[in-house]
Formats: sequence, C-alpha cells, structure tokens
Amino acid sequence: MAKNKLGVIVGSNRRESINRRLAQALVQLGADRFEAKFLRIDDLPMYNQDNEQPVPAPVARFKGEIEASDALLFVTPEHSRSVPALLKNAIDWAARPYGKNSWRDKPAAVIGASAGVISTAVAQAHLRAVLGSGIGMHVMGGEAYIQFKPDMIDAQSKVTDESVRKFLKAYVDQFAAFAGRLAPQRAAAAA
Ligand SMILES: Cc1cc2nc3c(=O)[nH]c(=O)nc-3n(C[C@H](O)[C@H](O)[C@H](O)COP(=O)(O)O)c2cc1C
Repeated sequence: MAKNKLGVIVGSNRRESINRRLAQALVQLGADRFEAKFLRIDDLPMYNQDNEQPVPAPVARFKGEIEASDALLFVTPEHSRSVPALLKNAIDWAARPYGKNSWRDKPAAVIGASAGVISTAVAQAHLRAVLGSGIGMHVMGGEAYIQFKPDMIDAQSKVTDESVRKFLKAYVDQFAAFAGRLAPQRAAAAA
C-alpha cells in the first residue's frame, strides 16, 4: 500500500532550530509509515488581505503542497507562551482566500520542543484550537511535550535516549494510524 504523504511544518526559521532537529528525527522514525516532505514557510510574506487575489507565488506553492499532503505534522517552538508569528502567518495564508481553505479536513498532529520544563505546552494548546475549531483540521489527541537536551538527537537525526525514541516512534505510528483511519472519510467527502 502507498505510504501517506506527510507535510512537515516547522514553526522556526532559526538555523540551529531544535524543533527542526526534532522534526528530522520524527521523519526518520516514521520513514516506514510516511513519505515526508518539509514545507517551507520562511519565504512567505507577511499576511495582508489586500494581496489575496491572487495570492503571492510562495503562498500558492505552499497551498499546493498542503493540498497534496495526506497529513500535516506541526513541530513548533513556543514564543511568549503562544504560537510563533512565523507559523501563525503561514496558517493564515493557507486558510485564505475565503472559500479556499487548504487545511480543511486534513489530519494534523502537533508536537514541540523547548529547553523549558513545560516545554511548548501552552503554544500547543493555542495551536490545537487554531487548527481544530479555527481552520477545520482533524487534530490528533494526546500530548507530546519534548524537553530538549543537547545530546538527545545526534548528527544523523537518531534519537539517542531510548525512552524518548520509544515515545516518539509510538507517536509517529499513532499519527500514521490516525491519518489512515480518516483517509476513507476524506476520499468520500472529496468524491
Ligand atoms: C521570542 C521568543 C519567545 C520565547 N518564548 C518561549 C516560551 O514562551 N516558552 C518556552 O518554552 N520557550 C520560549 N522561548 C525559548 C525557545 O524555546 C527557544 O528559543 C527554542 O530554541 C526555540 O526553538 P527553535 O530552536 O526550534 O527555534 C522563546 C524564544 C524566543 C526567541
């Protein structure tokens, strides 16, 4: 059976982003379940409703990538106890113009890393609300707050801590099963 196409969205544009490292590790752990593609968001302009008709070229590309994905994985830092502006900007663009929401009915999973003890929990709560009731995605339940340690993921994107590795593998497998369960419903709705 063909693997689900997974769009991976990292809510950081930092060169040494720990969330990008986490996303790369998740992609490796899920390679048997997903065909993953990282969707770029750091080249999208700042959202402006005046520029929706037509949307700028990078936004059109991003919307097309979302629409071609069977499921979307959001790996994000927390900024000031909420969703980073970079990520919220991307979410708003792809939900527009009115009636052309690219996110609708797609399965989504949310995870994030921070050095802090409560590690992105508040940002994730905000993001779940936006993705679910805000733009109509099906958001997987559960919690995945990763307190990042410098040696947790090696240069080959392998998770070195066995308990963290097991947790993350179970998380990607759960998401693959969740996206798989939704696939027939989504196909019926699209027919
Ligand atoms: C503007 C800003 C706000 C931040 N606010 C939070 C926060 O609310 N909670 C938190 O755990 N870390 C916060 N941090 C620290 C980030 O967790 C840290 O910079 C982390 O490395 C960001 O992830 P990244 O490496 O993937 O960009 C903040 C960092 C920045 C730059």
